[in-house]
Amino acid sequence: MSEFVTIFEMGPRDGLQNEKVFVPTAHKIELVDRLSTCGFRKIEVTSFVSPKWVPQMADAQDVMDGIYRHPAVVYSVLTPNVKGYTAARKASADEVAIFGSASEGFSKKNINCSVAESIERFKPLLEKAHHDEMPVRGYVSCVTDCPFDGPTPPEKVGEVAGALFELGCYEISLGDTIGAGRPETIGKMLDAVLDRVPADKLAGHYHDTKARALQNISVSLEKGLRTFDSAIGGLGGCPYAPGAKGNVATEAVVDLMESNGFETGIRRDLLTEVAEYAQNLRSTDT
Ligand code: HMG
Ligand code: MG
Repeated sequence: MSEFVTIFEMGPRDGLQNEKVFVPTAHKIELVDRLSTCGFRKIEVTSFVSPKWVPQMADAQDVMDGIYRHPAVVYSVLTPNVKGYTAARKASADEVAIFGSASEGFSKKNINCSVAESIERFKPLLEKAHHDEMPVRGYVSCVTDCPFDGPTPPEKVGEVAGALFELGCYEISLGDTIGAGRPETIGKMLDAVLDRVPADKLAGHYHDTKARALQNISVSLEKGLRTFDSAIGGLGGCPYAPGAKGNVATEAVVDLMESNGFETGIRRDLLTEVAEYAQNLRSTDT
């Protein structure tokens, strides 16, 4: 039997969060519902963040209320703090994700605090989540390069990933936020992280700005990672990372896995149509 790779679909959240023109709530719901038929086990639906910071995600509650909940799918949301966590619980999210950074510049721009402060701020959220038996995923952004601080030292990524893991995140997703990573820098970063967190508790979250995400996934597979984040149609970007383009396209990741003999459980034949629907949600000026 072939080995399983989990593909965590990011399109509705990471894919749409950067769109300048508000995507109607009904279209977001339709995107999630279409994705739910494709065999994904995990879909990141939206973010319970400040609507002043990310206006595109201001309808998080309505999106969560409107989607069809496929019993085989875990519906996850981003939560930066207890306020977001409380809203996510109210919306019956299956899982939440906190998001930190390995670089100070991005941490400040994205969540308005230093890396050390962010870890302190996550603690009360994690305490509540553990009490509620809510799984928490942890992101570390800028794992090879930061748009503000330049190259990120691999040890720093190891430190932040290790801290989030020790605090109880069940999985650490490693974000190449601006898609500047190369197989060599991703490999060195993973070596540093693997000293602190085992491969089966790590995920690769690679943006495809420089069209190197698939190579970076291949290196990560060699290092033992078996979970990858991707966005249908390659949607996306980060509002607080200038130059960040979309996540690697889900279709391309599924093709890569199939050609390497991995099983994903995803219906490849359904993805093309959903990718087209997702692409049509984009405004032309982003
Ligand atoms: P702050 O201004 O320091 O927060 O922002 P605050 O606690 O001082 O609150 C300011 C206002 O925001 C208050 O409202 C709060 O109530 C409200 P006001 O009194 O002014 O009317 N507020 C909230 N509202 C709704 N939901 C909440 C919430 N929290 C506070 N949860 C904060 C700090 C973290 C809130 C802000 O910086 C923020 O929301 N940032 C989110 C940025 C974001 O979503 N970025 C994109 C996602 S990360 C990403 O894309 C990277 C990733 O894909 C991995 C990778 O690629 O590397 C994950
Ligand atoms: Mg991202």
